[in-house]
Amino acid sequence: MPTKKTTKKESRAKGKPRPTTKAAGDMRRIGVLTGGGDAPGLNAVLRALVKTAIIQHGWEVIGIEEGFEGLLKKVRTRKLGMKDVRGLLPRGGTILGSTNRGNPFEHKQNKHGKTEIVDISDLAMKNYKKLGLDALVVIGGDGSLKIAHQFFNKGMNIVGVPKTIDNDLMATDATFGFRTAVQTATDAIDKLHTTAESHHRAMILEVMGRYVGWIALESGLAGGADIILIPEIPYDIKEVCDKIHRRNKSGSKFSIIVVSEGAKPLDGEVTVTEKAKTPHGIERLGGVGNKIAAQITELTGVETRVTVLGHLQRGGSPSPFDRILSTRFGVKAVELVEQERFGRMVCYRDYRIDSVKIEDAVGSFKSVDPYGQLVGAAESIGIEFGRHTEHEA
Ligand code: F6P
Repeated sequence: MPTKKTTKKESRAKGKPRPTTKAAGDMRRIGVLTGGGDAPGLNAVLRALVKTAIIQHGWEVIGIEEGFEGLLKKVRTRKLGMKDVRGLLPRGGTILGSTNRGNPFEHKQNKHGKTEIVDISDLAMKNYKKLGLDALVVIGGDGSLKIAHQFFNKGMNIVGVPKTIDNDLMATDATFGFRTAVQTATDAIDKLHTTAESHHRAMILEVMGRYVGWIALESGLAGGADIILIPEIPYDIKEVCDKIHRRNKSGSKFSIIVVSEGAKPLDGEVTVTEKAKTPHGIERLGGVGNKIAAQITELTGVETRVTVLGHLQRGGSPSPFDRILSTRFGVKAVELVEQERFGRMVCYRDYRIDSVKIEDAVGSFKSVDPYGQLVGAAESIGIEFGRHTEHEA
């Protein structure tokens, strides 16, 4: 009896890739780079991308080292085969290296003792062609994806994969690395709880997140913080101190405060580290925890300690969610290349992997809704956000 042929639609429903639009046996050479600050799950994306490209299509994958830098003056590449991605799923960081410095469209160079900005993107275009790449997959955050989009406009076949522990990209419900960072911060809060209780102290945990408060909010909720301070709700230090007083009065002689690095006081600004700007003009946040600690001690007399979690949030093994998301992103990136849908970024929406135009995905940030469900749930259980309220005289 003849067996029923599987239709294209049925194959896709079974998770099988679409047939290639190019002629059978047509070999493609795709480049991949990781740009911006690292995030747990980068290696897992590389693994999925390489495996899919080789197993499903027999393509060649070329890793570009150190982000876009590897396509410039000193071209740095390495072929990525099955052996190169073995064991990468649980490994943090990126085997390709990354940098959040450098933009080929605004390259800083020294001439006669003066720094000038020059556009050296043509060099990257030339090297892209010289390497014989049919497409370039850029795994990065807002900054790297903006650069990727500029290269797309110049004629590169670009596919983007979003990455950031900050979870601040508008076009995707989640970016890999975020859940792992929240796990790391939650573990820290759990540990701070026991020592805070023993010493009757206020313990401040300063977490990352740049201009959005997702890491602080979610880890604060998961770790049972008493006070959460996020950029989206400028804090009134009096409300923060009132909460500590109320807790002390009720017999809870310790308080856990999670503060996002981008949190700012009412009518105040974000706190930046001494070196306020990176060589490429990006504001480097940090120090708000210490500022608040000094104020709490002064206004309440409660002994206060600060822990700045820093880059621990970017390191380590990705959580199961991030491993799965990274894997699905890597698979989808290859699918977009295969379908020649360039200038698009893979995304995760309503529990499904999809894609959007890169130009629609960059430039605006996804911030916490100060009156949304998550903040609402936190406030319902008494978590203080330092919201300014007019008290009756
Ligand atoms: O965007 C990710 C992030 O980790 C932010 O949360 C943080 O502000 C920043 O990068 C730190 O960057 P750097 O690697 O330059 O210290």
